[in-house]
Amino acid sequence: MATRKLLLLAGDGIGPEAMAEVKKLIAAMNEKLGAGFETEEGLVGGCAYDAHGQAISDADMGKAMAADATLFGAVGGPKWDAVPYEVRPEAGLLRLRKDMQLFANLRPAICYPALAQSSSLKPEVVEGLDILIIRELTGGVYFGEPKEIIDLGNGQKRGIDTQVYDTFEIERIAGVAFELARTRKNKVCSMEKRNVMKSGVLWNEVVTATHKAHYSDVELSHMLADAGGMQLVRWPKQFDVIVTDNLFGDMLSDVAAMLTGSLGMLPSASLGAPDAMTGKRKALYEPVHGSAPDIAGQGIANPIAMIASFAMCLRYSFNMVAEADRLEAAIAAVLDDGLRTADIMSDGMTKVGTVQMGDAIVEKFLALS
Ligand code: NAI
Ligand code: MG
Repeated sequence: MATRKLLLLAGDGIGPEAMAEVKKLIAAMNEKLGAGFETEEGLVGGCAYDAHGQAISDADMGKAMAADATLFGAVGGPKWDAVPYEVRPEAGLLRLRKDMQLFANLRPAICYPALAQSSSLKPEVVEGLDILIIRELTGGVYFGEPKEIIDLGNGQKRGIDTQVYDTFEIERIAGVAFELARTRKNKVCSMEKRNVMKSGVLWNEVVTATHKAHYSDVELSHMLADAGGMQLVRWPKQFDVIVTDNLFGDMLSDVAAMLTGSLGMLPSASLGAPDAMTGKRKALYEPVHGSAPDIAGQGIANPIAMIASFAMCLRYSFNMVAEADRLEAAIAAVLDDGLRTADIMSDGMTKVGTVQMGDAIVEKFLALS
């Protein structure tokens, strides 16, 4: 069996606590299922800064480039608030994204049946929700030039950001959306603002052309991004895969995520282009939450976001679809059993800590295997 090379970057705060639960899963999969994972560890964020003055070292960056996939915990915390901008903890994450060219950010919004009651929307609106937002991550207004504040010399200043998209950037993100839709309900909705933005006109044109050329078996629709925001909270189940640019994706993925409950539940994946030789995509998997310094070290963090990120890793980097399905089913089953960490606790449920939640998920996963 080919080895599967994983780099684990646990980071700061609750990062290591959540990662410890994934390590248990990896060990169990190796031991009981012969999964053949080979793991390496590295430092990222504040802990890396403390060790060698950088948010990620060249050596650890090299490990990420060589691995089949990288699992990332969380970085940052008040301890590092005053460190110089270039070496602040977040710089580690930004370098990983940049050097690996991770242009596709996948943010699922899944509503576990046991948690439908705790959404801010009506249970019938969110129950059984399973959608995937794909956000372009390396282009658009966050990176376009010119990007500056200029002094107009009359007591006024002008702040400038530039939205820029080239054909190839839209083609490749659309390709990811169509390919993933084929493994799901085969439906893509593309969102932009072609009514007021030239980049939106091009986005619409290129998505339509990519669809026609290679993916006409997939159902494609287009929506203006502001209308898309309304539809997401009105009736989210109408969507399967949503593909959109960096800025709209930043907002729409946060909105969609919150339909389903706590930050402690939300996974994400960031994918790069397929390697010309091997066809493998570079990939980074991480929970949406940060390092949660307010609860770090107390053993009460919810490990589900990290574990669900590992499920995405099984699905997208290792094509272990059955295992990913089983791991997600194990999470749902443990919630059905009434186990809750503090962040998702409600009346009549059983409150557990990070380790008990992790143990219960590993046990269910193995029982389903
Ligand atoms: P945060 O996501 O760390 O925490 C926000 C709130 O949610 C806190 O009350 C926290 O206790 C709770 N929470 C988050 N994850 C949880 C989990 N798994 N289980 C239970 N409760 C959970 O965001 P915040 O407080 O804005 O930032 C804290 C630090 O994390 C900052 O230094 C920030 O820069 C960094 N950060 C790092 C990110 C990353 O590594 N990708 C992303 C966001 C923030
Ligand atoms: Mg955001």
